[in-house]
This record gives sequence, structure tokens and C-alpha cells, in this order.
Amino acid sequence: MSALALLQNISNEADYLMTPQGPVPKHCNEFWTAKQRQMHSLHYANSYRASFKPELPEFFINKYTKPGDTIGDPFGGRGTTVLQAALMNRKGLSNDVNPLSERLAFPKINPVSIEEISDRLDKIDLSTPIDLSREDDMSMFYHADTYREIINLRNYLRTHRDNIDRFIEMTALSRLHGHSNGFFSAYSFPQISIPKVNQAKINQTRGVEPDYREIKSRILKKAKTTLKSGGLKDLQRLARFHRLTTGDSRDLKGWESESVNLVVTSPPFLNQVDYVQDTWIETWFCDIPRESVEDKIVQTPDLQKWTDFISATLSELHRVLAKGGLVAMEVGEVRYQGVILNLDEILVNLTCQRQYNMHQFKVREVYVQSQQFTKLANCFKVENNKLGTNTNRIVLMEKI
Ligand SMILES: C[S@@+](CC[C@H](N)C(=O)[O-])C[C@H]1O[C@@H](n2cnc3c(N)ncnc32)[C@H](O)[C@@H]1O
Repeated sequence: MSALALLQNISNEADYLMTPQGPVPKHCNEFWTAKQRQMHSLHYANSYRASFKPELPEFFINKYTKPGDTIGDPFGGRGTTVLQAALMNRKGLSNDVNPLSERLAFPKINPVSIEEISDRLDKIDLSTPIDLSREDDMSMFYHADTYREIINLRNYLRTHRDNIDRFIEMTALSRLHGHSNGFFSAYSFPQISIPKVNQAKINQTRGVEPDYREIKSRILKKAKTTLKSGGLKDLQRLARFHRLTTGDSRDLKGWESESVNLVVTSPPFLNQVDYVQDTWIETWFCDIPRESVEDKIVQTPDLQKWTDFISATLSELHRVLAKGGLVAMEVGEVRYQGVILNLDEILVNLTCQRQYNMHQFKVREVYVQSQQFTKLANCFKVENNKLGTNTNRIVLMEKI
């Protein structure tokens, strides 16, 4: 059965989905707050495309696990799940095919103090002369003197990798481009690395050239904000229990079989985000070859391929989950061949089909979290989505 045909198998009733496996309760509510930046400040260290709010893993970790349990995320991104697990006294496992994820997640679960960061920044020499004609042209983003400092920091970080250096790296990554004076670049987008030609156009339209931005003070200021919630000692104490891996979600090397109690995750949606292009300045700063990521990240506009990919990932999750373990998978709604598809319905369906669910999960519940519309609109009709909702659709599956 094709992926799209799967949709004909279920019907949307008031409080449940009718599926071949039986009725599945569907909860529509505002399960967590719409307020911005309410959680631990470490969560807001970096912007990341398509990241979920930390309230989402908090909700599922709280509801379905106890302290000491293991929480995993095969599509870790900026490390939201692993950090939230760590903050809630659980063991965290995080994986992503992009090595950038590990650079962003590691310092959050291995934080250092602001004094250590300040002392280290004092010691790093960013004034070594650099022949910019031998470097990549980044003149549309950075003033030459800013760029020299960035390259010196990058060179330093190639050979200095303790937890303080890594925290500085994560913080510098968050400062590479953005719209305010706190960033290293001329006015740009904070969330995505835009192409050089687009940046040149922005400069032209605004009639500006990149001005000098001294980078150490900006790193220190951002690090202070990132660390303001405190609790470092607890995180440091638990750090050795967490693990970060880099690889494909269909083959989670380093994840032991039957070791995970709950997975909270969000896979790449049907070609919604270009994770490679949108992080090119970060991967450049970290010396991650673009080609090494490009072939591996799954970014497909093809629903059948997406369904096969999710199905194979579920098989691997089945292996790593403990008996009775759960997967909370967040998917969104996407425009596909001119219609809006709710990917939770696709997910529920594939879980009900032997063809896609060889290892047997049972869908327990579907959660629809939405902040902007009435419950009914959020749950069952998609017209509003055209206006751009802030809806999370989470399918909760149990290993059987
Ligand atoms: C929706 S984002 C997850 C964001 C994350 N929940 C957070 O809060 O930061 C999806 C992630 O999947 C990763 N990804 C894409 N293809 C992958 C694959 N085949 N295996 C593992 N990760 C993959 C991308 O690099 C991206 O970080």
C-alpha cells in the first residue's frame, strides 16, 4: 500500500482516531505554555532550525518516566531532549547525523562556570595576523578585523578541546550571524546561515558594510545569559551518564539494545528544512566538510521515501527500547501535492501496517498541542494551518 493510500485507513472522530489497530485517543489541548524562554537558560544557547520547545520533552519525560530512566533522541539537533533529560535527573542519549549536533549538545550537558570562560577568553590570543586573501571570502558578513578574530578562534579550537573551550565554541557558534549588535556579523538572520549573495544584497539594501565587532566580549555576554539559570553542579555530576552519538537514525551505533525507556524526537519533515544549507556558516566554523553531511541527511520531498525512512528508524528504535518502552514522535503538517498533510496521521497509519511496522509498535495516544486556535480547529481541520499555526503533533507509540 502506498504511503498516501494509508490515509484512507483511518477516520478522525471527536476524541479519537479510528485505526485498524482500534480507536486511538486523541488529546487536543495546550499542554505546555506558549510563553517564550521559560525553561533552563542553557536551552536557549543556540538557535536551531526546526527545534522543538524544551517544554515538549519535559511534558513526556515527566508523564512517562521516573528519575534514573534513560531518554533518547535519534534526531538530536541542538540537544533539547538530552539537556531536558539531564535537568530532570534522567540519563540522556542523543544522536544526529550532522556532527554539528554534538558540538551544540555536549557543552549543555557538560557546562562550565562563567569565571572559567572569562579566564580562558583572556588567555586566547586572537591577534595573530592572518592573510585574508588565503581564506574564504566572508567580507559580506564580517569586517576584516572581526574575521581575523573569528579565524584565530577557529584555529585555536582545532587543537584545544576541553570543556571550557567547547563551551566557548558553542557560544561562538550562536554569535556567527544575527540581527543585533550582539552578533559578529552585519545585520543577518540569526536562525539560518543565508547564502553569501543574499547577505551582499541585504548590505546593499541597507546601505551598510559590516562594522567591527570585537568577539570576546560578545561571547562572554552571551555565555552569561546562557548560564544564568544555574544548577551547573548537578549537571556536571550527572554528565558521565549521558551519551552523544553521530550517525544515521536507522543504525544507532553505541545505543545498547533494550536500554531506552522513552524516546522523544522530531524527525526531518518532508523537505521542509534544508539542514545543510541553513547551517553552512556553523559547519564551516567547525571544519565539518559539507559533503560529509550532505549525502547523509534525509531531506526528501517524496512521501513514500519519508515513510520508508521513518519505518526503518522505528525498527531501530524497537531494538534500543526496553520492554514496554515508548516513542513520542513529533511531526508537523506539510503541504504535499497541493494539500495539507498531517504527518501524525501518516505515522499512525504506518504503525498499523505490517508492511511498515515489522517490529510491532502500538499507537497509544496522539497529542495535538496548539497555541493559537480553538481545540476543534486544532484537532480536526486544517484550514487554519494555511495561516501558519504553532501546532505540535505527537504520536505516542509503545513497543509491544
Ligand atoms: C527536526 S530536527 C530535530 C531538532 C531537535 N528536536 C531540536 O530540538 O533541536 C531533525 C534533525 O534530524 C537530523 N537528521 C536528518 N537526517 C538524519 C538521519 N538520517 N539520521 C539522524 N539524524 C538525521 C537533522 O540533522 C536535524 O538535526
